[in-house]
Parts: sequence; C-alpha cells; structure tokens
Amino acid sequence: MSGVERPLAPIDLNDAGTFAAGIPHDGFAEMRANPGLTWSPPGGADRTGFWAVTRHADVVSVSRNTDTYSSAVGHIQIYDIDEDALAARASMIDLDPPIHTRLRRLVSAAFTPRHVERYRQSIRRRIRSRLDVLAADGGGDWVSTVAAPIPIGVICELMGVPEQDHRYMIELSDHLVAGTANQPLDPGAYGNSTELRLLPFNSPAAFAMANYATELGARRLREPEDDLVTKLLHAEVEGERLSEEEFANFFRLMIFAGNETTRSSMAHLALHRHWYADAFQRVDGDRSLLGSLTEEVIRYSSPILYFRRTVTADTELAGTGLAAGDKVVMWYASANFDEAVFDEPADFRPDRPTLPPHVGFGGGGAHFCLGASLARLEVSELIAELLDRGLRFAEIGQPRFVESNFVNGIEHLDVEL
Ligand code: HEM
Repeated sequence: MSGVERPLAPIDLNDAGTFAAGIPHDGFAEMRANPGLTWSPPGGADRTGFWAVTRHADVVSVSRNTDTYSSAVGHIQIYDIDEDALAARASMIDLDPPIHTRLRRLVSAAFTPRHVERYRQSIRRRIRSRLDVLAADGGGDWVSTVAAPIPIGVICELMGVPEQDHRYMIELSDHLVAGTANQPLDPGAYGNSTELRLLPFNSPAAFAMANYATELGARRLREPEDDLVTKLLHAEVEGERLSEEEFANFFRLMIFAGNETTRSSMAHLALHRHWYADAFQRVDGDRSLLGSLTEEVIRYSSPILYFRRTVTADTELAGTGLAAGDKVVMWYASANFDEAVFDEPADFRPDRPTLPPHVGFGGGGAHFCLGASLARLEVSELIAELLDRGLRFAEIGQPRFVESNFVNGIEHLDVEL
C-alpha cells in the first residue's frame, strides 16, 4: 500500500449500519471534496483498508482500465477471500479480458435493446397483475407485492426457470443479500455441506442456487427450450462447453444481478413517486421524458453502492499514488451525486440531461451492466403504468433498508392507495 497524502474517510464504509438510513450523502460529499482519493482504514471484515473512489471521473477511469484495475485479482467486494474461494465462485463479473470477453459473448446477444424488446408485453402483464393485487388490497408492502416479483419473474422467464419456482428464487436471492448484511443464515441451511468461505456472499443460499441450476440444466439438456439456460449449456468457449461449476456460477450471477438491483430501483421508485409527485406529473404530460425519468430513478437510487477492483501495477489516480495490490472501491452512490457532473445533484429532475451518464450501471468499459437495457425497460414500463393508472399513494411508510454496504435495497415499504 502506498500514498503520501492520506485523508481518512469521515464515515465507516465497512459498517452496514452507515447505510441503514440510505446513502450517507454528507460523508460522500466530504470525500469528493478531497483532492485525491480517501483512505478507508481496516475494519470489520476488511483487514487491509482500501482507497475510496468517490468522484464520477475517477470511477469512469477505473472502470475503463481493466489492465491496471483488475476484477480477477482479489475479490470484487471489499472483504478479501482466499484464492480457492475466488476460483470456486468465478463468473464473468470477477474475471478480466480476454476470458471475460469470451464468457460475456455467450450471453450478450440476449440483452441487446432489440432483443429485450420481445419481453415488453410480458413485463407489462407482470406489472399490471401485481398492481391489480396492490389495488385490490388498497395498498400493502410495495416491495413484496410489486418490486420483488416483477424483476425475478422477468429474469427467470429469460433464463427458462418455470413460473412455479420463482418464489424459491426470490427466497434464495434474498438470502444472498442478507449474506452481505449482519444476519447470516445457518451454515447448514438448504442441506449445505460446502464451507461458507467457498460460496458467493458466504451464503448457503448460493449452494442451493447452484443445486437448482444443475437440476434445471440436466432437464434442459434432455428437453431444450428457447431460453438462456439451454443456450448456455450448448454454448462453446474455445471449443469447450461450460463445466457444471461454470454454468452454475453463470446462472447464479444472472439471477442475482437481474433481480436484486432492478427490485431496488422499483422499490425506490415508489418513494420518488410520492416525494416528487410534480416530476411524475410533468412526465405524464410529456411522455418523451420517460427515458430521462427512468435514468433519474436509477441515478437517485444507485441500487449497487460499490464495486471493488485491485491494482495490478503501481500507478496514480487523482494525484494519489497507488501500489500493486491496493484495493480501490468505486462508490457509484457517491459518483452519482458528484456536483462536478450533476447540477444540483440532490434534486430529483425528470428532465436531467442523460449525458454524461450516471454510473448506476457502472462507469463503462468491459463490465458495464449487461442487463441495463432490460432494467431500463422494466423500470420505464412500471413508471408508464403508474402514470396510466393515475396511481398515487395516500400514505407511504418509513422504508426499511437492507442492512448492507453493498446494495441500496429496501426490504419493506408500506403504501396506502
Ligand atoms: C437497475 C438495475 C441494475 C443495476 C443498477 C445494475 C448495476 C450493475 C453494475 C453497477 C454492474 C457492474 C458494472 C461494472 O463493474 O462496471 C453490473 C454488472 C452486471 N449486471 Fe447489472 N444492474 C442492473 C440490472 C441488471 C439486470 C436486469 C441484469 C440481467 C441479467 C444484470 C446483469 C448484470 C451482469 C451479468 C453484470 C456483469 C457484467 C460483466 O461483468 O461483464 N444487471 N450491473
């Protein structure tokens, strides 16, 4: 580790409690004002400390330089894990080009704007049916009634998971997030016999999800369907099929990445709808703003708070010297409120310019969110349906946030129509 100047983080970024009431905007603003990077000392599960990257321009620089800032060396979350644990959980998100590029190519065609368009009608049906349930009850928990079932339904449909298993996928995905918080599951849950340190999020739910993937994979090998699981099983990387472990890791990544993130943005959307009613009214009168409002929802909610990279060779960023092996953590939740890029970042504006883009889907480059077009489609369809129905909340409760320093999730949110 290096660095001559080392301003210390004013908030404990390792403590999930720091994020218990949402993004700690003041602390991040203070860090953005430091000319260099800010040092977060060791704490909790982080035994080394890390450099906090909080400005938009620096997040973009790190994201676009996979040679110097690796996803494969070390872990992409703050805490370190052993080499065998890294290898056991590797999926494209924790690999660097060129192997990352080859894996991503297997699935990228399924996520182009043109391809995801074919799910629009089914997304609409899912949204309508969940809002009908909410309306019939006069309200309820927005998360379990609306925000959770829609994205998991969509990603499961894309993957080829049968409808009757969607609840099970939500349950497992919920536990994976809980694995990043302060409430671990029983290590033997779901019949798990794998050491927790070898499992993504150190969670037995990751074991259960891999088992499920293996069973579904075996079924699809016997009876192929027009779905992503079938495609993955038949795809070849350099003349070889994916191993059982690679396939299971791919499956887990898709379910988790496609579900939790979109759910969070939909959960926050309810708060935005209530707090910034004028913004929504404006878009109701001018639907050409639907796209920029969708981006604003994602910027404002920043569902993924950070991803980490590890420095591969001595370098300098924002004037701070970095040594090979240093951890750099890109705080999207800070960069999305960088006053150097966003005019009055705390304002929620439906017509905010979409260039330069927010970094809610990452700062660009090789790992830029694969599912961005799908997520945008889901969120914009939900906004459109809320507007079409003239749906407003008479009352909205206090959100209960997921206790995590990794995702900006909402566990529970009571709404009254
Ligand atoms: C609002 C919803 C979403 C948000 C905020 C989000 C955010 C992100 C972020 C921040 C990254 C890391 C980017 C980087 O390292 O540069 C990422 C990567 C990824 N996302 Fe999303 N995501 C969302 C929805 C989805 C959906 C619907 C899918 C569908 C499967 C998905 C699949 C992925 C995958 C597979 C990666 C890894 C890509 C790679 O390593 O090449 N995401 N996402």
